Amino acid sequence: MKKAILSTILLLSSTAILADTTMCFKENHKSMATIENTALDGGLCNGKFTVNDMKAKGWSVDDIKISQTATGMSFIYVLKTASTATSSSSNFIGNQAQMEANIMAKLEKKKEVEEKAKVEQEIKESATIAKELYTAKCQTCHGVNGEKSAYNSSRPLKDLSVEDMQESIKNYKVGKADSMNANIMASYANFIDYKEIKGIHAYLQSINKK
Ligand code: HEC
Repeated sequence: MKKAILSTILLLSSTAILADTTMCFKENHKSMATIENTALDGGLCNGKFTVNDMKAKGWSVDDIKISQTATGMSFIYVLKTASTATSSSSNFIGNQAQMEANIMAKLEKKKEVEEKAKVEQEIKESATIAKELYTAKCQTCHGVNGEKSAYNSSRPLKDLSVEDMQESIKNYKVGKADSMNANIMASYANFIDYKEIKGIHAYLQSINKK
């Protein structure tokens, strides 16, 4: 707490120093060997300059943070000019902490967005699978929209909750259903699992909502 306040004060009072410190980063980079010749994002690198370019312009590397990501490594470079090096090091820490927090927040945000997109993609894929499964294996008896009473003995699937479906399918599987056409459905019940029933239920709900 005390340190945070100190950093803030130092940050406010060190505006002149800010221009001499910059922070550049690169996400999901594969190789340590090539990073120094890869254009970095953010700060004064701005997607144009590599660490080596920055060095040639008189900047030096003050700190490097590397973190592992799903598809590579993320690099954060703290760069400073010679003039910063002569200034008090606590000034520098104030700026660095602030910039680092900003970049970290940005990276976190991006990760969240990517993860959300992944979950949405999975839902979309399972909906596609459910649609294909239902169309190929179920709709002849249960109707295109799940509206038919199969062999005049089943309830329309579109009206069933996922729990209803699961319960009926389970009973066919274990031979507990003693309805007159149970044997017809039993062979189909045997090759679908709970996840597929969930998917088919969601699919039928989605096409009947329109
Ligand atoms: C050859 C026709 C046929 C096919 C194909 C078929 N079913 Fe059925 N299904 C039936 C019949 C007939 C019943 C009612 C059986 C009875 O009398 O209990 C039934 C019952 C059901 C029930 C229970 C309904 C209730 O009232 O509780 C569910 C759930 C169900 N089917 C899902 C499916 C799914 C999912 C598929 C595709 C994987 C499928 N069925 C494929 C004929 C079929």
